[in-house]
Amino acid sequence: MTPIIATDAAAHCADWRLQIEPLNEYEETAIAAEITHYPQPQAATIEALKIVQQQQGWVSDGKIKAIAQRLHMSPDEVDSVATFYNKIYRQPVGTTVISLCDSVSCWIMGYQGLAQALTQELNIALGETTADGAVTILPTPCLGACDHAPVAMVGDQRAHKLTPSSLIELARLAQEQPL
Ligand code: FES
Repeated sequence: MTPIIATDAAAHCADWRLQIEPLNEYEETAIAAEITHYPQPQAATIEALKIVQQQQGWVSDGKIKAIAQRLHMSPDEVDSVATFYNKIYRQPVGTTVISLCDSVSCWIMGYQGLAQALTQELNIALGETTADGAVTILPTPCLGACDHAPVAMVGDQRAHKLTPSSLIELARLAQEQPL
């Protein structure tokens, strides 16, 4: 692959951030409905991000700009909300996201062994997506189930007291049938 030199990358980035990706009809309608629940449209930011992610699988810079325009905010303000919530993805992810808790209880109870087993099984590093687009692995802070450590979210399902073999089994299921 031809390496992108720094100046090209910067220019590409600047162009990309100027692009607005208009909300589609569903997104526009759903966000408008959410806005009615709050005194200020800005309060609907997280719901707007979730609506776009549900439609697109992730939230691009262009969609950030469209949400900002709709909610009368700056793109940076919307982006700061998006990056605060670790379930909003700012890059494309696989069909199933495995979020592996790396906070203290899970770390003590075997996080490193789980991460090693999973990255070897899927042949990707943390933060990457399998070549077939089926699974992304992300480290994540505490999932609120420390007494069941080690814990991961596999898609929308929380898995408790994981072992390397039970986690690999879940990852294989996710590759066969998205969770
Ligand atoms: S530390 Fe992992 S769920 Fe709390």
